[in-house]
Amino acid sequence: MYDFRIEAADKAAMYRDLAAALEGLVAGEPDPVANMANAAALIWETLPDINWAGFYRNIEGELVLGPFQGRPACIRIAFGQGVCGAAAASLEVQRVDDVHDFPGHIACDAASVSELVVPIVGAGGKLVAVLDLDSPSRARFDADDEAGCIALAEALAKVL
Ligand code: SME
Repeated sequence: MYDFRIEAADKAAMYRDLAAALEGLVAGEPDPVANMANAAALIWETLPDINWAGFYRNIEGELVLGPFQGRPACIRIAFGQGVCGAAAASLEVQRVDDVHDFPGHIACDAASVSELVVPIVGAGGKLVAVLDLDSPSRARFDADDEAGCIALAEALAKVL
């Protein structure tokens, strides 16, 4: 049984604890679906004020829904389409305060307002997946969330 309770004093410490817990969870496990599933669950349990946390995988140049927590979501997203597709096409983090202002945003859940999408890049610079977090609050994700989630993506890149 895993029972992670991360109650850190500040956000940077919280993300350090989260990364350490994630590295423990995925250590020695080569199956990418299992690792994404536990990562989505750990993030969902730890981060406040989110309504979706999960992965889209790069399957032959298309984003395909992977393990997640939250409401059922769009299954396939083209590179360049919406926030996830922009992250996949550019390999750059997308931190969006209000998705309604983002051209081509895909509304999987009408409750989502802000979004953070972090590319997970494997050896050789190839996109493996994107980590997607949604929140019902405007501007939920700040620079600390971005840095923390980049660290999570780097840890995951080794095991996906
Ligand atoms: N809103 C996303 C689609 C994925 S869902 O939020 C889970 C986007 O525009 O990429």
